[in-house]
Amino acid sequence: MLFNIISLLLFLASLANSSGSQTWIKAGYWFSGSEFLATDIDSSLFTHLICGYAYINSSTFELSISPPDETHFSNFTDIVRRKNPTVMTLLSIWTQNSNFQNFISMTSQPSHRTSFIESSIQRARLYGFHGLELNGVKPGTSKSNMTDMGFLFDEWRSAINRESNISARPPLILTMEGHYMPSQNTTSYPMDSIRRNLDWVNIRAYDYHSPTLESFTGAHSALYDPSSNLNTDYGIKQWISRGLPAEKMVLGLAYYGYSWTLVDPKDNGIGSPARGSLAADGSMNYKYIRTKVSYAREKGLLGYVVYQVPNDDNWVLSKAAQEEGKDQENNQLLWAILLPTFTVVALLLGTLTWYFRRRLFKWKVLVTRIMGIRPQRESQYPNLQAFSFNDIKAATRNFSHENKLGEGGYGPVYKGKLRDGQEVAVKRLSQSSKQGQEEFINELGFLPLRSS
Ligand SMILES: *[C@@H]1O[C@H](CO)[C@@H](O)[C@H](O)[C@H]1NC(C)=O
Ligand SMILES: *[C@@H]1O[C@H](CO)[C@@H](O)[C@H](O)[C@H]1NC(C)=O
Ligand SMILES: *[C@@H]1O[C@H](CO)[C@@H](O)[C@H](O)[C@H]1NC(C)=O
Ligand SMILES: *[C@@H]1O[C@H](CO)[C@@H](O)[C@H](O)[C@H]1NC(C)=O
Ligand SMILES: *[C@@H]1O[C@H](CO)[C@@H](O)[C@H](O)[C@H]1NC(C)=O
Repeated sequence: MLFNIISLLLFLASLANSSGSQTWIKAGYWFSGSEFLATDIDSSLFTHLICGYAYINSSTFELSISPPDETHFSNFTDIVRRKNPTVMTLLSIWTQNSNFQNFISMTSQPSHRTSFIESSIQRARLYGFHGLELNGVKPGTSKSNMTDMGFLFDEWRSAINRESNISARPPLILTMEGHYMPSQNTTSYPMDSIRRNLDWVNIRAYDYHSPTLESFTGAHSALYDPSSNLNTDYGIKQWISRGLPAEKMVLGLAYYGYSWTLVDPKDNGIGSPARGSLAADGSMNYKYIRTKVSYAREKGLLGYVVYQVPNDDNWVLSKAAQEEGKDQENNQLLWAILLPTFTVVALLLGTLTWYFRRRLFKWKVLVTRIMGIRPQRESQYPNLQAFSFNDIKAATRNFSHENKLGEGGYGPVYKGKLRDGQEVAVKRLSQSSKQGQEEFINELGFLPLRSS
C-alpha cells in the first residue's frame, strides 16, 4: 500500500512537472539579411531564437547555407547563449519563391527527402542548433504535394529520434512556419502528420494585406475582423477545427506594419484606395503587441514568435510581450505547485479514511465476536466471521468457571474453543459493572488486532 502511494505520488509529480515545465514560448526570428548583429540581440527576452535562412540545394536536395551566411550561422548559437545560456536556437529553412520548386522536387522523391533530412540534422548539430524549422510552405498546392509533405515529416521525425538515440542528446526540435489558414483551395496541410511529428507550428498571423498586392489599405495583421476571414482569430479556429491542438501553436507577431500611398489623402481609413507603399519596403514598427500575447494566452496557445527581432525598438516590444506573458508563466508555476500539493493532501485524506475505516471494521468484527451481534452489513465484508451468542456460550462451556481466565475492570474473561478448534478469548461485560460501555469500547479500540 505504501509503495503504491509512493509510486503514485512520483507518477503524479512527474505529470505535474512535465505540464509545469512546458515552457511558454517567447520566440523571435533573426534574419541575416537584416544586417543586425546577432551579438546585439537581447536574448534574455526569448526562450527560442530562429536563425534564417538555409535553403534546399536544387541538385543535391541537401540543406545549404550561403557562404556569407555560414560565418554568421556557425556561431549564432554560441553568441546568443552568452547573454542567455538557456535560450534555444532553431535553423530555419526557406522554401518560398524560387525555392518552392526545390522543396516540391525534394519532397516528391524518397531519396531526395533522405538527402535533405540527413543533411539538415547533420548541419544543425554541427553548428549547435537545437532544432529545425521549415518555413513558408503554403497549403494550397496539389493534394499529392501535401501528402509528400506528410511523408517528409514522418521521416524527418524518425531520423531525428534515431540520431538522438545514437548521439545520446536530446532530439532536435522540429517545427514549421505555417500559413494562418491551414487549408486553401480545398487542400489542407497534412494535419495528422503535423500533429504527430512536429513540436509546434509557428502561425504566420500577418501579411493579410500588403501594399504590393492590393490597391486599397488593409489591416495586415488583424486579430479580429467580423467582415472578412482575413484575421488571426479565424485562422487559429480553423487550425483547431482541423485537428491541431492549441498547445501546439505559437502565435506569430509582426514587428512591423505597412504604409500605403493614398489615392486621396482625405480618404484614409481601412479599405481606402491606395497605390503601392510609401516607404521603400513599406514596413514600419508598431506596438499592438500586448493584446495579441494575451490572446495567445487566453486561447491556450504555446507562446508567441516575433518577426523579426531586429525590428524591435530598443526592445520595448519584446519587453511588453514578455511582461504580458508572465501571468501565463505564473499560472503554470502555480499549477506546478498546486497540483502535487493537492494530490498529496487528497492521498493523505484517502489513506487516513482507509485506515480508520479498516480499524472501525476490525473493531466491529471484534465487538461482533464478543457480543454475538451479527453486523448489519456483513455482506460487505466477505471475510467477516460472526458468532452467535449460542456459539460463544458453547465455546466457553456456558461461561464455565474452569474457562474463566480472570477478571477485568468491567467483567470476566473466558477462554473458549470454537467448533473448528480455534481458541479465543471472550470478554463479557458484567451487568453489575459500574464502568460504562464507553470504556469497554475504548479498550476494544486499543487491542492489538490480528486481521481475520
Ligand atoms: C548545390 O550543390 C552542388 C554540389 O555540392 C554545388 O556544386 C552547387 O553549387 C549547389 N547549388 C547551389 C545553388 O548552392
Ligand atoms: C563568428 O565566427 C566567425 C567565423 O566563422 C568569426 O569571424 C567571428 O568573429 C565569430 N563571431 C563571434 C562573435 O565569435
Ligand atoms: C487557389 O486557387 C486559385 C485559383 O485557382 C489560385 O489562383 C491560387 O494561387 C490558389 N492558391 C494556392 C495557395 O495555391
Ligand atoms: C505538386 O505535385 C505535382 C505532382 O505530384 C507536381 O506536378 C506539381 O508541380 C507540384 N507543385 C505544385 C505547386 O502543385
Ligand atoms: C536506441 O538504441 C538502442 C541501442 O543502441 C536500441 O536498442 C533501441 O531500439 C533504440 N531505440 C530507438 C527508438 O531507436
